Amino acid sequence: MAGLLGVLCYTVSCLTASILAYSPSSILATDRPVHLAILTLVCSALSLLVIAKRSQFKRNIDSGHRGDYVSIPLKELRDGDAKVAKEKQRIHSYALTSSELFAIVLVATVALTVRVDVQRRLLLVSECATRSVEVWLPFLIAVYDALRFQKRQDVRAIEEDDDDEDLGSTAYQDFAQSLKRSLLSSPWRYVPTAFLLSLGCHLVAGLWLSSESSHVCPISSSDVVVVPRLQWLALLLDTSLAIASLELAIGGMLPSTPILSIPISWAAVLTLSAGVWSIIAAVVIATQPENHAWLFMEHEPSPVGSILSLVCQALLLATFCISTLYSVMNLGLLHISMALLALLTMIPGIRFIWSARRPYPPISSLNLTWSFAIIYLAWSLYSRTRRAMHASESPPSTLRRVIIFAVFALLLYPGLMKSNTVHFHPIDLLMYDAQNKYLGYLNYAASSSNIAEAVHTYQERYQDNPPPGFDVWFEFARNRSVWVTDEFNQIYNDLLPFRAIQPADLRQHTWDMVSNPWNEISGITIRGGVAQVQENVIPTHRWMLEGVVSILESFSQHLPDMDLAFNLNDESRVALPFSDLRRLENKALRTGFGKSASFSTDRASGWKDIPPEPISDTIFENWSFANTFQEWAALTCPSSSAAHRGLSPLFKSQLCLDCAADHSLGQFVSNWSIAADPCHQPDLANLHGFYLSPAAFKATHQLRPVFSQSKVRGFNDILYPSAWNYMDKVAYSPTNTSSADRPAFPDPPYKEKVSSLYWRGATSEGVSTGQGAWRGMTRQRMVHMANNLTMSQHDGVTLLLPDTRHPERYTYTTLPGASLPDIGLATDVSFVDGIARCGGRDCEAQEQEFGSATPDDFQSHWKYKYLIDLDGAGFSGRFLPFLQSHSLPLKAALFREWYDSRLIPWLHFVPLDLRLHGLWSTLAYFAGVHGTDADGRTWDWNGHQREAELIAESGREWSRKVLTKADMEVYFFRLLLEWGRLTDDRRDELGFVL
Ligand SMILES: *[C@@H]1O[C@H](CO)[C@@H](O)[C@H](O)[C@H]1NC(C)=O
Ligand SMILES: *[C@@H]1O[C@H](CO)[C@@H](O)[C@H](O)[C@H]1NC(C)=O
Repeated sequence: MAGLLGVLCYTVSCLTASILAYSPSSILATDRPVHLAILTLVCSALSLLVIAKRSQFKRNIDSGHRGDYVSIPLKELRDGDAKVAKEKQRIHSYALTSSELFAIVLVATVALTVRVDVQRRLLLVSECATRSVEVWLPFLIAVYDALRFQKRQDVRAIEEDDDDEDLGSTAYQDFAQSLKRSLLSSPWRYVPTAFLLSLGCHLVAGLWLSSESSHVCPISSSDVVVVPRLQWLALLLDTSLAIASLELAIGGMLPSTPILSIPISWAAVLTLSAGVWSIIAAVVIATQPENHAWLFMEHEPSPVGSILSLVCQALLLATFCISTLYSVMNLGLLHISMALLALLTMIPGIRFIWSARRPYPPISSLNLTWSFAIIYLAWSLYSRTRRAMHASESPPSTLRRVIIFAVFALLLYPGLMKSNTVHFHPIDLLMYDAQNKYLGYLNYAASSSNIAEAVHTYQERYQDNPPPGFDVWFEFARNRSVWVTDEFNQIYNDLLPFRAIQPADLRQHTWDMVSNPWNEISGITIRGGVAQVQENVIPTHRWMLEGVVSILESFSQHLPDMDLAFNLNDESRVALPFSDLRRLENKALRTGFGKSASFSTDRASGWKDIPPEPISDTIFENWSFANTFQEWAALTCPSSSAAHRGLSPLFKSQLCLDCAADHSLGQFVSNWSIAADPCHQPDLANLHGFYLSPAAFKATHQLRPVFSQSKVRGFNDILYPSAWNYMDKVAYSPTNTSSADRPAFPDPPYKEKVSSLYWRGATSEGVSTGQGAWRGMTRQRMVHMANNLTMSQHDGVTLLLPDTRHPERYTYTTLPGASLPDIGLATDVSFVDGIARCGGRDCEAQEQEFGSATPDDFQSHWKYKYLIDLDGAGFSGRFLPFLQSHSLPLKAALFREWYDSRLIPWLHFVPLDLRLHGLWSTLAYFAGVHGTDADGRTWDWNGHQREAELIAESGREWSRKVLTKADMEVYFFRLLLEWGRLTDDRRDELGFVL
């Protein structure tokens, strides 16, 4: 009906829409909506001008969808009777005068320009976005269409076209028949079907309810109200743009409309809008120097690549716009908007259903069936109506209908068959698993009982000889009664790439780093078995290095002469791009050590003295306060990884289930070591202060020997045991008796503790400079979940609770957030000491949202059963004391310490995903739920107190066995022997053998 070109355009439009619907954030630069908008507008305008030149857009009244607007078959229009003349007159009344045309162009330009801004704003505060506003577009279009263009139609003519067989003549069928007849003949004929479609899509969007993210949409800010309004505004603007395209499509082709072809009009709209945005961008460039880096993509890993990808995205969007525009002229706006809406809703919907085949996230099969059935019904009613209006369209064959239905059913099958129920609680399985891992670890970590076995184990694991002094180290470890004598893979992995670098270079690099105070890296010198802090250390950080020296003192007499460079910041420092690291590691693996058992004697001369005047050269880049994910996480991942492709939801209000799937069992962490790996989790970019906006982050992509207390996956810092813990900056020291100036802080047995989740801390995870970065930070999200969820917009909380019918099974159930205290999930969580590390409006916003309490004594933690541990700007120093107590520690972390491999999650502590979506289920598993929720359901489940106590106690015992101060010394000693060998000019000859 619409010619080959029309069909082609329609196909292209649907195809591009499908691509966009499948994964918008991986395709579109959502962080640069304005760049993208300008490029898209320019590309589209240029293409339209080209099209206008070789105009396919004939002014031909017979073409296309105008059939929808003509109540008499077009072929009869040329006849001369009065009715036809009247009809002709009606059609010609849609012709546009010059001023109308001008008005339309103006309205469209304003709408488009504002729309870009609305989209930009929406993306900035997408935490507060609700899901299904845009779905009402076809409905609004149908209403406008009915009011303006649709005409009463002769019913007889319709009935002739109708393929409906004789239905017999019961009263009901008569009624249905007459209803149908009156609907078809009325100008409102398309409105009910458009409404049905919008409703169906609205319901499909509701299926996501169980996967809201924990991003903070501040209740105290106006965003809660403003963002949904912005979404409605976006809908109105889209409707006006659609109407403009409709008016142009109909009026623009009538001979009496002034000569300004449709493509030219649109090119004008797009160019004007692009012009306005370019002016805005120019003003921003001139007046806001702080935005220059972002505007000019200075912080991009590869600016050229980013620009290229922006251009590709713009071309894709332009293709979508132009093919859609042309399809509107051929098939009618309503048809296109309905088809596109159905695609844009169903594709993510079906994708969600397929990714949610497991019990988590729960989907209501009933809602699923309903929502898709409504869409199906709406579309088939629409097709019927349309066929009734166009004699030329034949109904689809039965075969085609069956095929369509079958495909539909197949696509929805996983959702329809899905159960939200599990037969075992995942935590039971994970705890069982942990027990097995533990048994394996026992054997792996401490199998050597004498030096010969230790050397043998070393050689077997690393295919090389241990470093000189290994026997002294082993003796030291025995004397200090440490239990772990064989498991030091962390040291091996940390140091491996450095073997590819010459010893002289390693020494030079150390000197370079500590000689420039700007680097915030300071040195410790070891000469003649004595360790000393170098003189140029920043006074505020001196305690830290003195702490390190105090660890070293116990064994420094056995160390060779050398200098060490320590990271004074909490954040990690060295991240090699993936391919560079692989190259170095491969090179390193080709080297080997010898059998000479003593370090070189003249080592001291190899290390240069600290210069009296600091140097100013540095290889570190300052990335403080910037979003660091692309540059410092994605770059360390293979290029095929999700971190590069950016497959996370467009709106932050949505949980990225695909991102969590690899390390999760249901809502729970099943693989703690990859839970912090950014490579499969692009959404981490917005979930942690370190990626969102670190406080002091100076980093390099070149391999440099920096000793750090903790690091994030992908970083190549060398881990060492933190002086913070060694010096007992925070310590586990409960007191049973009170004194005059201090009350008692006992650590009672687990059963006697308060059943509450306890946390105190500062907003120190990252710096929120005024752009709202705090809304994604783990600490803020956790505090918000604990205190303010009850009042937030997104208050559906999904928990795994006993099935109401089969108590031995568990079902994922969504409860209102306000119910949590009612069913006994108590928390005592707050920020203390005011809001720190903030700027601009973020200080006040956080103050209003969270308030802040006065700090409690650290020793009051032991009163509570559940202690949650979260990263600060770096690792959390409190975790070891938590482990040592009788309380149960829960931990969500990006940063990992030297002892990470020594702890078995679900045996020694309870791991949490950084998204925190399993927090309440985890708590419910241990604490149980008792009470009546806001939906009126009564719960009485005792939970797993015994398991909680088991983990609390085994963590306590284990930390006394493998995480003592002696363990820190032994780890550090071994690390430095290895490091001593790597920095020795004769390193290829060095090795300890018996
Ligand atoms: C089903 O949809 C209705 C209407 O959107 C909603 O109120 C209800 O909570 C949904 N049910 C489930 C189990 O999600
Ligand atoms: C959030 O919860 C805290 C603690 O209950 C409260 O002090 C604060 O006022 C709440 N914030 C809002 C905006 O209601």
